[in-house]
Amino acid sequence: MPRLSPAGALSSLYQRLTKYLSDDAQARREFRWLYEHALNTYTKHAPSAAHDLGGSGRGVPGRSPLLRSKLEQTRLWRNSPPAGANEVVDGLQAIGPLQLAWLRQAISDRVDKHKPLQYILGTQPFDRLELAVRPPVLIPRPETEEWAIRVSDAISASLQQYARRRVRILDLCSGSGCISLALASRLPADTAEIVGVDVSAKAVLLADENLSLNERYLRNAVSFYQVDLNGDVSKQMMAVMGAASHDAVVGEFDVVVSNPPYVSYREYCSLDSDVRDWEDPNALVPNFGATDSLDDDGLRMIRRIVSLIERGGPPPSVGDDSAQAQPRTLRLALEIGGSHQVEPVRELVASAGFGHIDVWRDLAGTDRTIVGYRGQPLKLV
Ligand SMILES: C[S@@+](CC[C@H](N)C(=O)[O-])C[C@H]1O[C@@H](n2cnc3c(N)ncnc32)[C@H](O)[C@@H]1O
Repeated sequence: MPRLSPAGALSSLYQRLTKYLSDDAQARREFRWLYEHALNTYTKHAPSAAHDLGGSGRGVPGRSPLLRSKLEQTRLWRNSPPAGANEVVDGLQAIGPLQLAWLRQAISDRVDKHKPLQYILGTQPFDRLELAVRPPVLIPRPETEEWAIRVSDAISASLQQYARRRVRILDLCSGSGCISLALASRLPADTAEIVGVDVSAKAVLLADENLSLNERYLRNAVSFYQVDLNGDVSKQMMAVMGAASHDAVVGEFDVVVSNPPYVSYREYCSLDSDVRDWEDPNALVPNFGATDSLDDDGLRMIRRIVSLIERGGPPPSVGDDSAQAQPRTLRLALEIGGSHQVEPVRELVASAGFGHIDVWRDLAGTDRTIVGYRGQPLKLV
């Protein structure tokens, strides 16, 4: 078999990736990310000290200057127009055998096994943080990042309305911890206490790891616990948080945020294999595998979440002067799958006593977040 020169090898790997991804610009970007990862992670001949930044996701984001620069580069490429096809391979410096071996394996994982790029790289930027990502925990999505930043801005702008020493925030279905950690890093120092819960032990472990990895960027307390929202939530939270009093744990939250599973089984079947083969189906479809999940509209977890929140008082009626006086305090932010879920979720949220409800769109123009406002804080029932 003829031996390939390093440039020839790079070019043939790039062509494999281009064939696999129908989008040329995406292929160029992914190739550059993978190539740079190989270059930054391995020396030409032996694993470097930066080895741990690899696909295991057990690197030291937030502590390593190398990683910070990787984050900056990733952002740069994300936002910059893709280079021309020739520049992709011609402009690259030669890489050593170990680097090439890693790149070969990475492209094979991507093309043959449909492994998501983020799982190969082992990290994903989320707001100002770099998060470790590992299958099968859901990879944080940019649309979630958008609304988490908006929630943080809204809370920061109206901190005085929460009337507590620290705003207590509950993140239901916290996964990798992305929303909780972004809020903890953005909200003014010592203004918030954030609790994230998830049924998946792997997710809670990863969230804890992301907490340590990003510790120096966090300005507020965050903790993660394993809790099944389909069980007795108060009881579980009291047990895992080691609190004797119900009220101390679940008595009052100022804000509940959640990106719950909201994909119907039917929609799930049509998702790309990058998603279906790698990400936890329970993170996507509520009660995945339940015998009746075939009929689901994807809203079962959202119904459950709303049912866990004690009903507020009736919203002020139209024409009532107190409607003007009532501050619009953001209490609830729920990610949804698009416009088809807006009305049913709006109705559910209204029935829990949220006097004002907004629908936020993501940057692609899709209805993405249902935001509920009401005077009273939220008690879990
Ligand atoms: C769409 S993912 C969101 C993860 C993360 N918040 C994010 O935005 O990337 C949904 C999460 O819900 C969790 N989940 C599914 N069923 C649950 C249940 N019964 N109780 C608690 N968490 C659950 C999954 O483990 C998964 O991490």
